[in-house]
Amino acid sequence: MAYMNWSDDLSVQINEIDEQHKKLVSQINALHDGMRSGKGKDALEKTLKELAEYTQYHFGTEEKYMKKFGYPDYEKHKKEHDAFVAKVVDFQDSFSSGKLGLSIDVMKFLSGWITGHIKGTDKNYIDCFRENGVA
Ligand SMILES: [Fe+2]
Ligand SMILES: [Fe+2]
Repeated sequence: MAYMNWSDDLSVQINEIDEQHKKLVSQINALHDGMRSGKGKDALEKTLKELAEYTQYHFGTEEKYMKKFGYPDYEKHKKEHDAFVAKVVDFQDSFSSGKLGLSIDVMKFLSGWITGHIKGTDKNYIDCFRENGVA
């Protein structure tokens, strides 16, 4: 069974963004699978790198729209993105240097952050994005 499941309560009712969020969920699942099946450090590093890169790509999409539409909470939202990216990059460094391993606590942090951010922060831009024609 997948570690994280997509469900409708994660939907922001914007197809492009939902697809990106679904991809993030599947990357978190890939990382979890890799951890559970005892994959080697190189393979896990690669999966982690893919997750970090896609996360930044996704945040870039949201930030591009927020800026374009003059979204009032842009700065606040971007700060949350930046803080998460910094944590993920920190973890990547610690993992690569062998200081920290992948653990269920790390997985809980990643999945919990994504879920909480989508439900608590991303959902606030729905009206603004839709009014500006993002479907
Ligand atoms: Fe998002
Ligand atoms: Fe966001």
